Amino acid sequence: MDAGAEQIVVRHAGPLSGEVNVPGAKNSVLKLMAATLLTDGVTTLTNVPDIADVAIMGDLLSAIGVTWARDPADAATVILTNHGAITPVAPYELVERIRASINVLGPLLTRCGTVTLSMPGGDDFGSRPIDMHVAGLEAMGATFEMRQGYLVARAERLHGATITFEFPSVGATENILTAAVFAKGTTIIDNAAREPEISDLCNFLVAMGADIEGIGSSTLMVHGVERDSLRPVRHEVVPDRIQAATYIAAAAVTGGEVTLINARPEHMEMPLRRFAEMGLTITPQTNGLSVWAPPRMRSIDFATLPYPGIATDYKPLIVTMLSIASGVGIVTENLYPGRFRYVEELLRLGADISTDGHHAVVRGVRQLSGAPVRAPDIRAGAALVVAGLAAHGETIITGVSHIDRGYDDIVGRLSHLGADIHRR
Ligand code: EPU
Repeated sequence: MDAGAEQIVVRHAGPLSGEVNVPGAKNSVLKLMAATLLTDGVTTLTNVPDIADVAIMGDLLSAIGVTWARDPADAATVILTNHGAITPVAPYELVERIRASINVLGPLLTRCGTVTLSMPGGDDFGSRPIDMHVAGLEAMGATFEMRQGYLVARAERLHGATITFEFPSVGATENILTAAVFAKGTTIIDNAAREPEISDLCNFLVAMGADIEGIGSSTLMVHGVERDSLRPVRHEVVPDRIQAATYIAAAAVTGGEVTLINARPEHMEMPLRRFAEMGLTITPQTNGLSVWAPPRMRSIDFATLPYPGIATDYKPLIVTMLSIASGVGIVTENLYPGRFRYVEELLRLGADISTDGHHAVVRGVRQLSGAPVRAPDIRAGAALVVAGLAAHGETIITGVSHIDRGYDDIVGRLSHLGADIHRR
């Protein structure tokens, strides 16, 4: 059976309990991998999740000139070798598979002075332009032209600039940041995104020899260094706050009690505060956090916002939690207009949700009931798995390849916590 035809089958099985280890963050590791284009030699990344997107990014980097392999002694360690012979071309067949392929733009342009990049693909939830990436790099001296679906960027040597984003775009912040590493002079990124994964990238670059001030803040200042001053390093990928929230949601909808080893509560302050308002007891631990859920949660209203607000990636999980909470929750999506498509799937499980543009009204029902559903993207797919844990009867999820892009063995982890779940 090909991966596209695989299914996850979940049956209602009561409260989850036990410990689960939170893997490294997809949205960090992909960017760290792209940043290895900046310097020759062998980079070692640890705490790398076993997800399909790592392999796709690895294939893209191999086509450009950086080979990768998992350490046979430890599958969570990835070794990337930049052989120095870089071909700054990102072909359509690879780029169209993940949005994060856009992250090769900054490193390649600053290192090679030219890039030919197919326009990026990735999740299908609305238009995801790259105008801020382009405008920022143009302010640093780059020129762009479109040729037969490919974006061709050029810059002899980028120079520093002050770039003020209208909106703190994650990807644009990362591309300007990596491009600025070798630019002449200082680049200031104002209204920069400040997700923990951006800080992880900054810390990685600094360890390599880059000069960055303001890490973790919304003003990043990058002082350009010479190309030969970077060296490869060993770096541990930050734990994945979205996967962590997935296991919190799983505990929540089953009225369970779960400990998340390796979760970083300081990276999840806002969602954890809102989960507490819903009735969960969340207790930070030395190496993670524990969650206890009441038999039934209370509804809340919430809106998605850039970090430190509630990330759009948490939304399908929280909507799933609201779908069986007591009361009514109003949800506002501020990042992606098309990101409510999974609601149709939750309706098939008996949820009571109405959507209107950027808003959803979720009326909590006492019980969901199992049905066949289709995962439309990574996070919504995981949310459907969580919904299946709470639904009476059997829930069969197709579109599993979406979930595999961002989740490291979700079936094994939930099964370990006592869920009745398997793949077939
Ligand atoms: N935007 C523009 N112009 C730009 C850049 C962004 O209009 O030049 C818009 C986008 O269209 C979108 C919004 O700004 O409406 C947010 O985009 P952003 O650049 O912040 O997001 P991204 O870098 O494309 C990353 C994550 C997403 C996550 C968002 C928001 C990766 C690979 N992807 O995307 O994660 O939803 O930030 O937090 O890091 C996922 O992991 O499943 C996922 C989709």
